[in-house]
Amino acid sequence: MAEVDTIQREVLMKDYAEYTLATGDEAGQRLELQSNITRQMLGKVLPQQVISHLRSVAEKGQRPRICDIGTGPGHWLFDARAQLREEGINAVLDGYDVHPELFPPEEKRKAEDVSFGELNIHQREHFVPLMKSKYDFVHVRYLSVAVGPDQWDGAIESCLSILKPGGIFIWEEILLEKMELVDPEKWTNVLRMFKLNWSILRRNDVEPKLTSLFNSNLENVTQENFTTKDLNEEWQRHQALNMSMACKELVDKAIEIGEPAIKFVGLDSAEELQEVLRLAQQDFKNGALLHMPVNRWMGVMPAGTRGSRPDGKRKWTQALRRWFC
Ligand SMILES: C[S@@+](CC[C@H](N)C(=O)[O-])C[C@H]1O[C@@H](n2cnc3c(N)ncnc32)[C@H](O)[C@@H]1O
Repeated sequence: MAEVDTIQREVLMKDYAEYTLATGDEAGQRLELQSNITRQMLGKVLPQQVISHLRSVAEKGQRPRICDIGTGPGHWLFDARAQLREEGINAVLDGYDVHPELFPPEEKRKAEDVSFGELNIHQREHFVPLMKSKYDFVHVRYLSVAVGPDQWDGAIESCLSILKPGGIFIWEEILLEKMELVDPEKWTNVLRMFKLNWSILRRNDVEPKLTSLFNSNLENVTQENFTTKDLNEEWQRHQALNMSMACKELVDKAIEIGEPAIKFVGLDSAEELQEVLRLAQQDFKNGALLHMPVNRWMGVMPAGTRGSRPDGKRKWTQALRRWFC
């Protein structure tokens, strides 16, 4: 029993200490698909408030600085470049990721004037060199699978350490625990796949964590909700493919880790897990839909010194500082 506990703890640790999705070519293709679906759902990548802020920086004669953390192949950055071009804003665009093998080819980076660098969101020292010339806008999308329950505070703190006062921070996240299978009685194989003990799907703390961290560290916080339910039929089919490919990544990763991971999700063998995957993928092909809710949190870095601000106390301290200093 003690041995099982140790195995479970190790797998659980692995589950969030390491990124549990794949980083090879197929993963790259899925990220492109997911990025296209997201574009359909959220519209242009830079909300109007961000465009106005960047324009005001540019009007002061500075080149606005933007970074994307956990950028992968940089789809968000290339979308941002296209939008900025339309807006006539010439910004610096930097992408960071712990898996540089996902970065796009050099020619594409040069053609779009986008830079990429290796960075682990959990390693504070990786942020230190970036503090010298901070960013006007820091963006993160779909990184929660790489953030464990006790890693949120540190990850947010690091992201904010490279944001200028008055700068904007956005984190967009899939609410994994609120994914919705349409007609679960019919698509029993997908249901079974999702009832396995994937601990990344059980971390129901993303929404409260991000809401509380934004509220305690930033001003003018807003939250927007999106869902693939609002997409047309064609894009809902793309979403089904996205989910089918994501299932394969989860299964491949569990098989790569080996027996403890397979036991942890609740099955006896890799063959059994492969069969669950095969049937679930068949369901997706036959029309199963698994909807993905996405939230966008946005906030502004206070102009004064940053620190934890329970219930608006920071506003008071800032006002007092303005009056007395
Ligand atoms: C689901 S993908 C999202 C990619 C991209 N943000 C997008 O929306 O298209 C998650 C990304 O986070 C990266 N990642 C995983 N763990 C990370 C970490 N500890 N620090 C920085 N990036 C990480 C992965 O390599 C991957 O590119």
